[in-house]
Amino acid sequence: MQSVAVGAFGAAPALIKIAKPVPQAGQVLVRLQASGLNPFDWRLGDGILKDKLPHSFPLVLGVDGAGVIEATGPGVRRFKAGDQVVGQFLFGRVGEGSFADYAVIDENAVLSHYPNTLTATSAAALPTAGITALQLCQRLDLPVGSTVLIVGATGGVGSFLTQLAVMKGLRVIATATHDAAAQMRALGAGATLDYHETTLERWVNEHVPERIDGLVDLVSDATVFTAHLALVRRGGVALSTVWSAQADELDKRGITGGNFEIKATTQDLDVLVTAVAAGKLAVRIDRQISLADVPAALAANRAGGARGKTVVVM
Ligand SMILES: NC(=O)c1ccc[n+]([C@@H]2O[C@H](COP(=O)([O-])OP(=O)(O)OC[C@H]3O[C@@H](n4cnc5c(N)ncnc54)[C@H](OP(=O)(O)O)[C@@H]3O)[C@@H](O)[C@H]2O)c1
Repeated sequence: MQSVAVGAFGAAPALIKIAKPVPQAGQVLVRLQASGLNPFDWRLGDGILKDKLPHSFPLVLGVDGAGVIEATGPGVRRFKAGDQVVGQFLFGRVGEGSFADYAVIDENAVLSHYPNTLTATSAAALPTAGITALQLCQRLDLPVGSTVLIVGATGGVGSFLTQLAVMKGLRVIATATHDAAAQMRALGAGATLDYHETTLERWVNEHVPERIDGLVDLVSDATVFTAHLALVRRGGVALSTVWSAQADELDKRGITGGNFEIKATTQDLDVLVTAVAAGKLAVRIDRQISLADVPAALAANRAGGARGKTVVVM
């Protein structure tokens, strides 16, 4: 079967043939129909978890995936052959990922059933970016009507977070390069700002002189994130998904929050599947690609410019 893998940490991902996996005790074998691409995929190839979990090489990349269970290993209780599932193909070991025709995964991984009203493409876009957005939104413990600035809003996480924050009654200001402004407004952003044309400081000082209540920064390094804290009012919340928050800098400004780390659960994935199936949450698909396109798409994602989700269709 075809898969996209790296042969060593930091190596270029490549399309390779490997043997179809066999489900062991407690595992299911999924015939993948679609896989969502995330920045986490190339970070895994770079070795972000190399000191935390065992890895198998060639390291098949891809975390998010949706498809149909073809077989189950001994002792599996939650699933049966023929079930349509979506989840994260990462459970205790890195390298048996979803950029492949088939993958095995433990039945206790983050894995949900999804209804026929969802396409595999929409389902596969959900797990990592959707759960991150849902949990970020839960950390935005702010009153209805509060203003939240999302930096890096036009990609996977930001497209979901914008909608979820608006549903919670927050007013979203989204950074958006000019081509993406209309898209972000369609997702519910009350205002957009193009960081190529103005600075966040200038924009906030002009439009929200009382300062913002919440900041979710999906892209900035520690120096830039710390500078952005000046835009947040005392008592507000600031979160970084890229480990840029320094506790002392937040403390001295009376801001709560800090670095965010996803703790993915099947329950949260169920919430997202239900919201999409009910038409309450839109899945913004940027590009649909094939497995052969994945190496180039990973390189492109590193360079920026995502507009919603890139999904691999098998
Ligand atoms: N800590 C965690 O648990 C966790 C969980 C999930 C994701 N993450 C991280 O969160 C980040 C976002 O994830 P994602 O899936 O949404 O990524 P993505 O889909 O690649 O989107 C990133 C977006 O940021 C925009 N951007 C880049 N530089 C920017 C800047 N200086 N100012 C404003 N916008 C900028 C990009 O568009 P333009 O280049 O056109 O501006 C792109 O739309 C990634 O670094 C990911 O690894 C962390």
